[in-house]
Amino acid sequence: MTLVPDPPASLPRFPRDFLWGVSTSAAQIEGAVAEGGRGRSSWDVFAAESGRIKDGSDARVATDHYHRYPEDVALLKGLGVRAYRFSVAWPRVVPDGAGEVNAAGLDFYDRLVDALLAAGVEPVPTLFHWDTPQALEEGGGWLRRETAEAFAGYADVVAARLGDRVGRWITLNEPAELTLLGYGVGQHAPGRQLLFDALPAAHHQLLGHGLAVQALRARGARSIGIANSHGPTWAASGSEADRSAADLYDLLLNRLFAEPLLLGRYPGAELGFDVADLMPGPVAEDLKVISGPLDWYGINYYQPTRVGAPTESGGAAPAEFAGIALPPELPFAPREIEGYPRTDFGWPVVPEALTELLVSFRERYGDRLPPLVITENGCSYEGTEDEERIAFLDGHLRALHAAMAAGVDVRGYFVWSLMDNFEWAEGYARRFGLVHIDYETLARTPKASYRWLRDVLREQERG
Ligand code: BGC
Repeated sequence: MTLVPDPPASLPRFPRDFLWGVSTSAAQIEGAVAEGGRGRSSWDVFAAESGRIKDGSDARVATDHYHRYPEDVALLKGLGVRAYRFSVAWPRVVPDGAGEVNAAGLDFYDRLVDALLAAGVEPVPTLFHWDTPQALEEGGGWLRRETAEAFAGYADVVAARLGDRVGRWITLNEPAELTLLGYGVGQHAPGRQLLFDALPAAHHQLLGHGLAVQALRARGARSIGIANSHGPTWAASGSEADRSAADLYDLLLNRLFAEPLLLGRYPGAELGFDVADLMPGPVAEDLKVISGPLDWYGINYYQPTRVGAPTESGGAAPAEFAGIALPPELPFAPREIEGYPRTDFGWPVVPEALTELLVSFRERYGDRLPPLVITENGCSYEGTEDEERIAFLDGHLRALHAAMAAGVDVRGYFVWSLMDNFEWAEGYARRFGLVHIDYETLARTPKASYRWLRDVLREQERG
């Protein structure tokens, strides 16, 4: 990868109807957590606990998008994207997760959708991006089946209000991260450390997805997808121990959610780790709901992972990986990926792994795979010069195009993120935005990557 990318005009041409967009999520940008009747979320409570967020911050103000959304919509228009992926905050719409609906919360998203449409930008809402209503979390959150049912009720409420103007919906964002980081190792809200006992949270999110798809379809939704995180898993060596550790990690990251959704079954029997046995409720029946047809499948891609067996001393395994401290009890250990540049977050920059991932999806799922959309891809860099972010995006767009040229059906690409924002347990230290946020003044300043992407989109529109 070069730090001086070729000019935007040199990027290969994507299809004319390709969906170019950028992404954000409610908990990371909205702020206004106690305004307009919003209920508390699991992240409000988690961030208020001492030591949870690295820089001691919280998302009570974040980028103040709740008040400044007109400015943000103007930035989207100036960028020239066709679509904007944002999330609806469940506790803003149904403050306790189930029961009473908060009209003021719905009004906010109604105004946002209208503003986007007036700016010529397609609204693509995600119904859930990790901000579980605290009232539900206190009852066990996603470990309980009731949360999946409540989620479908909330999806119905949102679709009833926005469905006349929203064509494309996303149910969940990255249930893998919420399961692993939130319930498995406790680095994200709700801060539980259940290790493999966290798996019911995966099942209930999948069930919530399936039930929400039914609710959306009943309201006439035409195009529904989900945003899952995926990345190639590379075994640390050819040894059997490393290969089985990598297989298990691959199962948890890449197969645990994709296979129920696309194939209607849980993976793992062939590895002697049949996930279906660990799931609660009438699993076979639930799988029928979970595998209802999807119009497209969203992939969030950031980096590949190199994984080996844990060493006895724990020596070769970093105690921390991608900012996340991994407990030594896990039967796999991430290893350093050497020979690639790194983002300021320490994540290796490996564009060709995106091609590898997309091609492997087509090979794994064949005809069962609906069209793909890259629902997130991006990087965190602190500097204002921003050449690295441009090089990252340039490299990944070329890698995406290569996968498409190899026959993978990809219909869109969304950059994470429109603007710098609250990066979960990292606080404000990580900057993923095309637009810089000054957290003192909340001023928005487009970075060089914003201008670069604008020029790319202009070139692409030219055909
Ligand atoms: C999440 C985003 C997050 C980004 C960068 C994804 O896991 O969906 O909310 O900010 O990655 O870490």
